[in-house]
Amino acid sequence: MSIRFDEEKHLFQLDTPNTSYILGVQDSYLLHYHYGKKLLPGDVSYLARTNEPPYTPERNLRDKLSFLDSAPFEYPTGGIGDFREHCLEVRTQQGHNGVELHYKSHRIFGGKPKLEGLPATFGSEQDCDSLEITLTDSLLSLEVVLQYTAFRKLDVITRSVRVVNRGAQPIYLTKVLSACLDMDNEDYSLLTLHGSWARERRMQYRKLGYGFQGTGSIRGETSHQEHPFLALTSPNVTQTAGEVYAMHFVYSGNFQAQAEVNQFDQVRSVLGINPYHFTWKLESGSSFQAPEVVLVYSDAGLGQMTRTFHRLYRNHLIRSPWRNKKRPILINNWEGTYFDFNTEKLLSIAAGAAELGIEMLVMDDGWFGNRFDDNRALGDWFVNEEKLPGGLQYLVSQVNQLGMKFGIWMEPEMISPDSDLYRAHPDWAIQIPGRTPGLARNQLVLDITREEVLEYVWGRIRCILDSANIEYLKWDMNRQLSDLGSLCLNPDTQGELYHRYVLAVYELQERLCSNYPNLLLENCSGGGARFDPGMLYYSPQIWCSDDTDAIERLSIQEGTALIYPLSTMGAHVSDCPNHAVGRVTPFETRGHVALAGTFGYELDITKLSQADREMIPAQVALYHRFNDLVRSGDYYRLASYHENHQFDCWQIVSENGDESLVTFVQVLGRPNYHSRRIKLQGLRPEKLYREEETGAVYRGDALMYAGLMLENLWGDFRSKLIHLMVL
Ligand code: GLA
Repeated sequence: MSIRFDEEKHLFQLDTPNTSYILGVQDSYLLHYHYGKKLLPGDVSYLARTNEPPYTPERNLRDKLSFLDSAPFEYPTGGIGDFREHCLEVRTQQGHNGVELHYKSHRIFGGKPKLEGLPATFGSEQDCDSLEITLTDSLLSLEVVLQYTAFRKLDVITRSVRVVNRGAQPIYLTKVLSACLDMDNEDYSLLTLHGSWARERRMQYRKLGYGFQGTGSIRGETSHQEHPFLALTSPNVTQTAGEVYAMHFVYSGNFQAQAEVNQFDQVRSVLGINPYHFTWKLESGSSFQAPEVVLVYSDAGLGQMTRTFHRLYRNHLIRSPWRNKKRPILINNWEGTYFDFNTEKLLSIAAGAAELGIEMLVMDDGWFGNRFDDNRALGDWFVNEEKLPGGLQYLVSQVNQLGMKFGIWMEPEMISPDSDLYRAHPDWAIQIPGRTPGLARNQLVLDITREEVLEYVWGRIRCILDSANIEYLKWDMNRQLSDLGSLCLNPDTQGELYHRYVLAVYELQERLCSNYPNLLLENCSGGGARFDPGMLYYSPQIWCSDDTDAIERLSIQEGTALIYPLSTMGAHVSDCPNHAVGRVTPFETRGHVALAGTFGYELDITKLSQADREMIPAQVALYHRFNDLVRSGDYYRLASYHENHQFDCWQIVSENGDESLVTFVQVLGRPNYHSRRIKLQGLRPEKLYREEETGAVYRGDALMYAGLMLENLWGDFRSKLIHLMVL
């Protein structure tokens, strides 16, 4: 059991291989003592400083607020005198907001329970142990169950919260964050990921200052702009040294990720559903389950944090049977044809691709209704037989005859005002009565929180998937939510819409996973706006970005791979000049960068230059050769173009350390320059490794502690793969 309770000291200790998370009860308050490097069992309750005047709660009721405003709370609440950011806020029938929680009971057990209606990490009794602590506010008859899981072989603690109304009256929850971490500020910086369309997930550090700092989304999805992740890092943290306290939210909607430094240089980090326009009416006897937060601590820099997240997500989050399998190399026609395609064109792309070893054709946007451009027809999920005579049956059978699989694009959550669906059901769009909802890409969002709308959407998805041999689905979502209003909700429950919307997305994806278990699902949102652990639970891969330029992708994939396994990052080779930036890069480099993700093509192969086409079979062979390693190996970030503005370099090492693949991308060529020395990681120091291309033999310790020479390449945007095998 990795969780123990010390009856005498009222102390809970959750241990992972290298970390401890310790909390305890004092005067019936649940306080946080330590998260970080592993400690032997002992009394660390002094860390809460309750013995330091004037804060002692039981001895100094005269100054209870001093205690409430400085004690390290495990789950702080609002309205009673903790003036820092708190996790729980309510509104009673009488209009009051105070909640005060006291310890009631706990239970410790093996394994990890599912979270009702929500994606979450999973693990068996061999993998993990769980702790549930019930806190209660007796005045409100409100119970708060804090749920913790400690993984036995991974340095991971997960947390979530369930709020139960045991009273006779409904109560309104106006804020329910999922986790809080109170610590002393030891000169930490805050690491977050931010971006934009085509520039997702760039890393940003800022030194913590007094007050609030952080990030969040109120866009109804995780967003291109911000990511539900925050990490406190010790000064000058690197890939290999320094402390990191990371929090990641397993959720796909509005979030708040915030750190606050207070008057006593304590830092409180919180993560959860953004309270913006959030009110949940909790009826008597019912409960509200908040989503999960994953906590990872590393005392050996960012790299160790990264590899912990990768292992956790690969083995304990992605449910798809595809998670450990090589995915078919696909060719997607989006950048190749946009809306201008028909059966004939698709089949000529498929035929050209099949000859070169590509294994699946994915038909993107434009195959349904009157969808000749992006101004119309979302919701009309009926095949456009003008474009596809003979329908999907004919097209897919022809593609299959070429020896290829077939995949399709859908955007099930959306509705175009110019669609038969909208003409029949204008009220199905999310909107505020009397106000014309704002358009984005000329589309509106379907109110899938309504049962009839959800069933319609599900019916269309089923119909399409059942109509032919479709083995892959790209599920897109191309606008953010605004003008929040549902005709199905009452004035006092309209504030539930954002969260209900996310639950409805999960419900649809859950149905997909259970009804089509072998379907390869790729989530997408205008590129990478819904790249989050919530979606990863349902789909083993997510489209990383609409920016397929190999150089832009360096930073996008670096930020994404900071947390997510390479096997989850949708990455394709596209044509040049690149459609997002107009940059021309070598075909080889585009291939090397895409190999660090799911790998595929996004171009019209019939229009590709002969020289580029000739390179495809070799790229395909590289994919088959290295994908097992890329999918299952450990990832090391050796150099960052985002930081050094010159070159990028990452390394993948097999779990046993015997094989390694180094990818080097030299962004700008340098005249009159010698080779660069780079120190590898994760190898076996005593072993000899042969470099495949040159046959040179190096010892592991030399490669790691002295370095490998990366030759200065001729030209810009050049890249190289270096493959090392133990002798
Ligand atoms: C989004 C996706 C693209 C493509 C288009 C189709 O932008 O990210 O890959 O599918 O939609 O409209």
